[in-house]
Amino acid sequence: MKNFIPVCEPLLAGNELKYITEAVSTGWISSSGKYVTEFEKAFADYCGAKCAVAVCNGTQALHLMLVAAGIGKGAEVIVPSFTMIASAFAVCYTGALPVFVDADKDTWNIDPAKIEEKITAKTKAIMPVHIFGNPCAMDDIKRIAKKYNLLILDDAAEAHGAEYAGVKTGRLADITAFSFFANKNLTTGEGGMVVTDSQEYYDKLRYYKNVCFPLDAPRVYQHENIGFNYRMSNLHAALGLAQVEKADYYRDLRRKNAFLYKKYLASVAGIIFQQDTLGGLNVHWMNAVLLEPKKFGKTKEQVIEYLKQNGIETRLLFTSMHRQPALKKYGCACDGEEYPVCDKLAENGFYLPSGSGLTEEEIKFVCQKILEARGC
Ligand SMILES: Cc1ncc(COP(=O)(O)O)c(C=O)c1O
Repeated sequence: MKNFIPVCEPLLAGNELKYITEAVSTGWISSSGKYVTEFEKAFADYCGAKCAVAVCNGTQALHLMLVAAGIGKGAEVIVPSFTMIASAFAVCYTGALPVFVDADKDTWNIDPAKIEEKITAKTKAIMPVHIFGNPCAMDDIKRIAKKYNLLILDDAAEAHGAEYAGVKTGRLADITAFSFFANKNLTTGEGGMVVTDSQEYYDKLRYYKNVCFPLDAPRVYQHENIGFNYRMSNLHAALGLAQVEKADYYRDLRRKNAFLYKKYLASVAGIIFQQDTLGGLNVHWMNAVLLEPKKFGKTKEQVIEYLKQNGIETRLLFTSMHRQPALKKYGCACDGEEYPVCDKLAENGFYLPSGSGLTEEEIKFVCQKILEARGC
């Protein structure tokens, strides 16, 4: 066993090197190489969706999705407060206002019961985020979106292959954004993808991604709108294609990690796991736990320190959006609002090592050290 267990490291167990080598040896390293279209097609197929557009990271994927959906100044977008900052920042990049909703106490996803009270005449979309790979309660979100005529613009950065009612992310919303950062279940190092079934959105995504070159005349240097260079390189796409080829394998490894953590820790007083959404298939990007100090006998900080002394890396959970100075400065009205579940997650939660390549022996060791921490 290794003497340091990182919180997450990538697993590149298929054709990654072969495809990268091919890209380098043929000189196709920009976004023009064949792997970009092959990766887009393979990822769309994996999701069961019609179209996919590769970009350089998940943050760009979110921004491009919002632009293609027509979100801009004057609009409001409903975003969970418990998420990674990129979900909210992407809304800000368009000039729109992110409006935050507390998390559900069990699934840690946006609480559908608290969405309607945040909807105003300016609300244009809901952005569900499938936290740590646990799909949101999409039936409830779709019902609300239909009632108020809102788009669903999905942040599935952490949820490749997750399912709700048998449908994979990428097909649960009008448009869906993914991240392929190095710690994700599928990775290209840095990378992102936008997925949709709509030809109209697909055209807009490709158009804005490529500095608004006309789609039918990409070499005509005439630009009618302000666009972005969000093109993924062939090198990154080479990694991505190899990863998608083994997508179910990587997904099952993450699910196995979660199973093992629960096997060893679920019955321990004071340790709480994220609960799977009813009707969902959680792909367990990260295994986070909440530690209730009174029941467990030690604080989160004490346990993290003990794990560190034993070569085990952990990470704190996201600081929620309603606590972010940048978003307050931007004009998000968070003061005086209550987000008790988010605050509890921040107070008591942390990630355990969660990489796809973890062995049962390593997970057992981590769990043993957590239990030992109680007696120190
Ligand atoms: C929920 C969520 N959204 C967006 C992102 C941003 O993705 P990236 O880091 O690829 O820009 C992340 C990254 O971790 C994320 O967890």
